[in-house]
Parts: sequence; C-alpha cells; structure tokens
Amino acid sequence: MCGIVGYLGNGDAYPILIKGLKRLEYRGYDSAGVAILENGDLSLFKCKGKVVDLENIVDEDSKTGGIGIGHTRWATHGVPNDVNAHPHLSGDGKLALIHNGIIENYASIKEELKSRGHIFHSETDTEVLVHFIEDVRSKLNVSLFEAVRIALSEVHGAYAIVVLDRENPNQLVAAKKSSPLVIGVGKNDDYYIASDASPIIEYTKNVVYLDDEEVALMDRKEGLKIVTIQNQAKTPYIQALELKLEAIEKGGYDSFMLKEIHEQPRSIRDSFRGRINIQNGFVKMSGIDDYRDKWLNAKRIIIVACGTSWHAGLVAEYLFEDFARIPVEVEYASEFRYRNPVIFPDDIVIAISQSGETADTLAAIELAKQKGAFIFGVCNVVGSTISRSTHSGAYTHAGPEIGVASTKAFTAQVTVLYQLALGVAQVRGTIEQKDVIKLMAELNAVPDQVEVALKSNDHVKEIAAIYKDSRNALYLGRGYSFPVALEGALKLKEISYIHAEGYPAAEMKHGPIALIDEEMPVFVIATQGQSYEKVVSNIQEVKARKGKIIAVVTAGDKTVSELADHTIEIPKTDDTLVPIISVIPFQLLAYHVAVMRGCNVDQPRNLAKSVTVE
Ligand code: F6R
Repeated sequence: MCGIVGYLGNGDAYPILIKGLKRLEYRGYDSAGVAILENGDLSLFKCKGKVVDLENIVDEDSKTGGIGIGHTRWATHGVPNDVNAHPHLSGDGKLALIHNGIIENYASIKEELKSRGHIFHSETDTEVLVHFIEDVRSKLNVSLFEAVRIALSEVHGAYAIVVLDRENPNQLVAAKKSSPLVIGVGKNDDYYIASDASPIIEYTKNVVYLDDEEVALMDRKEGLKIVTIQNQAKTPYIQALELKLEAIEKGGYDSFMLKEIHEQPRSIRDSFRGRINIQNGFVKMSGIDDYRDKWLNAKRIIIVACGTSWHAGLVAEYLFEDFARIPVEVEYASEFRYRNPVIFPDDIVIAISQSGETADTLAAIELAKQKGAFIFGVCNVVGSTISRSTHSGAYTHAGPEIGVASTKAFTAQVTVLYQLALGVAQVRGTIEQKDVIKLMAELNAVPDQVEVALKSNDHVKEIAAIYKDSRNALYLGRGYSFPVALEGALKLKEISYIHAEGYPAAEMKHGPIALIDEEMPVFVIATQGQSYEKVVSNIQEVKARKGKIIAVVTAGDKTVSELADHTIEIPKTDDTLVPIISVIPFQLLAYHVAVMRGCNVDQPRNLAKSVTVE
C-alpha cells in the first residue's frame, strides 16, 4: 500500500527511483510519480496508472540529478488520478513531498490554511501536509528539518514521508509514524529511503529502520541525523540487511505468486529448521523458553490478525486447544480494536502478520498492551513494525512474499504456530512426549508431501479450465479443514474476481445449500481422518442437488472418487497437519483460474500487499 523511494547521492536519482518503485509494485497502487532536482530545477511527473505509464511521460532532460523522490499511490483521499498522485508541492512550489498513510486531522488543518490564502489542487491529505510544513517553516523561520518536526507534532494519524526542498540540493528529510520507512546508508554518503528494503538491497546492506515519531535528516555535509517529534536526539542504529536480491526476483517463473507457491517446501522447512529436535521431541523457541511462566499461567489466548493471517489463526485455535488445552479466541484485528474487549493480564495475545505492518493488527496489539496482556508476534518481515512492538515472537522465515495473494506466508505461519502449540503443550504438561515425537516426525515429512501436492499442478490446471467461467464457488471443510475452505475461497475471489465463500461443511444445510445447482462448483476438503464420513455425507447432499464436486482427498481414496466430479490427491498426514498440504491445490487452482481469465495475479485490482490504513 503506497510505495516510497527517495535518493540523495552521487549518482542519478531517476533510474534508482524507477527501479525502486517497480520493486514496490507488489504492495498495490493505482498511480505513480517522481520529483527530481537538478541545478535548482525541480521536475515533477505523476500520473494515474502503472510505473511504466510514468516512464512514458518523463522527458529525457529530467532524468539526471542526484536527488529525487518517487511514489506509488494507493488511493485513500480522492480518486486515483494525475492530480491526486504524489509528489505534492507546497504553495510556493519549493517543497515536494511523498506520503504513505492517512493524516486524520487534515480537514481542520486545510480549513485553517485556506483561511490564510493557501490554495489546494488535489483532494489529498498529503497536499495539506506539505502546505502545512511550508506554513510552519515560513512562519517560524526554521529549517526544513525543524519545520517537518514541528508540523508533525500537530498531526494525528499515520505517515511515512520524504520531503525535498528545491532550494537545498544537499538534503532530504524523512519521518514516520505507523507506516514503515527504512534508510539505506551507502558508499560515499549516498542515502536511499524506501517503504521496505527491496529497493535498497542492491546498493547497500547498511540500513536504519526509523521508529515511530522519528524525523531523519540526510545531508551531504552533516550525514544522517535523527530526532524524535519531541526533539530528542537519537543515535542512528545501523544494522546489516539479511535480504538477498534473488529472493525478490521472479527466478524464471511467470509471476511471483507461482514462484512463491512452489517455494513452499523450502519455506515450510525453513520455518521449523533449528526449532524442533525430532529425536528427543523438543521444541526450541526463545519465545517459549524466555517466557515459560507466562505460557504456564496463561488462562486464555487471543489471536488477532486479518485476512489470510486470520485463517492461520483459526488453524492455531484448534492446535492450541488440542495440544495445550488453552481456550482460544480468534479475532479480526479490525473488530477487536474498536470493541471494548475484556483482556486480563494473564491473557496472551498472539498477533499474526506477514507484512508486520497491518494497521488494524498493530492497533489491536497496542490496545491489548495497554490492558496488560503479554503479546507474542508471528511475523514474516524482519524488523517490521509489529515484530518490534511485541514482547516476544517468532519469525516465519518464508522469505519475501511479493505476490499480493498470500501463499507461502500462510503455510509458514501454520508451521510456526504448530511448533508453538506443541512447545506450549510441553510446558503445560498437556501432551505426551511420545505424541510430540510422532507429530514432529510428521511435520518433518510435510515439505516433501507439499512437493508431491505441487505435482498436481497440471491436473488442477485442467480443472481450472472447466470452472474458470463460474460466477460463484463454494468451499467446504470441517475441523482443521474449515480454515482451509475459507482460505481457498479468499484466494479465488481476490485474484480471479469470482465470488466464492468458505463454510464449515455441516453449516451448508443451514442456508448455502439453497445456492446449489448444476452451475455451482463446490470445492471440498475430504481427506481421511476424524470427520471423513461426515464430509462424505455433505458431498452426497451436494450431489443430490446436482452441484459439481471437486474434492481434495487422501491419496488412494476410493469412496469420494466415486461420488465426486473431480478429485485431487494429497499425501496422507496427521489431521492436525492437513491444512499445510490441502491448501496447495487451492492456491494452484486460484492461480490458474486467474491467469485464464486474464487477471493480474501478482497485483489484483484494489488490493494492497501491506494494508497500512485502517
Ligand atoms: C490475502 C492477503 C490478505 C492479508 C491481510 C493481512 O491473500 O494477503 O488478506 O493476509 O491483509 O496481512 P498481513 O498478514 O501482512 O498482516
């Protein structure tokens, strides 16, 4: 959601900005722009559409200059169009600003500025902010750095900003609150600024993650200086970036989503490697070891997350209840934060987030923290805001997920939560050691089983071709497979725009069964295990109404194969691990249907990878 790139250095800014914006495309956006400064001339180009559209409007003369800012916008205030695109200029045309986030009190600031003669051209809160900084600077006669700090101390909301001053080619000023911003410190005091490390990685490994309410000055002479909004000086903490360039490139696949689906054997293995000892059945997670008493005495776990991460949370609910016998509530972070939830000091809140930047999840964490709960984060992006706001946590090690539709992050989240539930069960003495050893051996086999499930690709593609023009689809599952039904439906709707719903299979007869006719594909997880016979009965109910059944079954299954229109086999595993494997055919199916319908699978319409607004 909105991408920010800035550069101040000895090279030309333009190619760095464009390449960086392309690296951030995965976040989702609807317009793009750049501002470049050379010899006192500020060139501004911005348009609705993609970064390639922007490239087409930038003239050759404006492609040089060692200082610039670039932006991809995901519309919040005002429709996507050329005028609302960033950068925005101050009234005197001296300042150019890019912004990710929402300025909540922009309307009152705008009214005040208008009354003093400011004229606005766009509908955005961002234009108000740059006028406000201009106003503070001229009224108080302070430096840009100081004006940004003072203006932001009056602002409510979320922001990551970079500001450039036409009259000062030696400086950029950046600041952040609740939206991510990272500064790369390159050779010869070159500075790179971006929403995440992907635009920076090929230039430098030395990065500084700005904390909330920090303002940074990058100056060719003075170097990097950071102060808080309250004007306290901070020493920049430079850390080494571990990200590798290959991890953010497509590696021969047609799309990031397909690459990421196929990476899952590796990403699942990476998510448990070094954390479990299969021979003696021990879980080694510092988030458990360092907080044994918390886990031992917890009366309840509350899981907060959004979207796919919420689905991983639902799987975790079953795992914690089965293994550790702790009551669990799984909450949409967006609902939780606006209720008045009852939270006790002996509650543990687990926040799950791939990006580690989701605004609703972050707000839910803050609320639970205020009420005294212990917060455990399960994040994929190292150094992300959520990973830094929790008391403890475990990274998922899925590697960068660029495709907007989450795939490998889901299986990595479930893998980490699986180990967490096993480890906590050991601490609480609710599981027998022989069962832990058996389940760990099963978990260890999952990456190879996912590899086998991926071999169904061609068969799934044939099924996709049959149902690609459907208008609706139902996904059904019971027990551990219910969250997978939800996840399968979400994958299909978000990238192919076919309406799809996930239901617990038994719930079908309470309403959705009315939808079933010969046009309706019904995707069912019917693997052998606890609810197998019950699911077979649900399949019969669908067939009796002429619905089409596409069933994910255990390899060798005969019963369902005789009933279903199509079956997709997956290897046999323990019930508790089925979600990690059964989701694979649904990811592939959504992918193929979307490609066949001509949709952009990596950047589906209206969606953003990192949802940093509420
Ligand atoms: C679906 C998807 C979204 C995210 C949701 C939460 O494919 O990607 O539903 O799961 O926006 O994002 P994170 O996990 O980054 O907090």
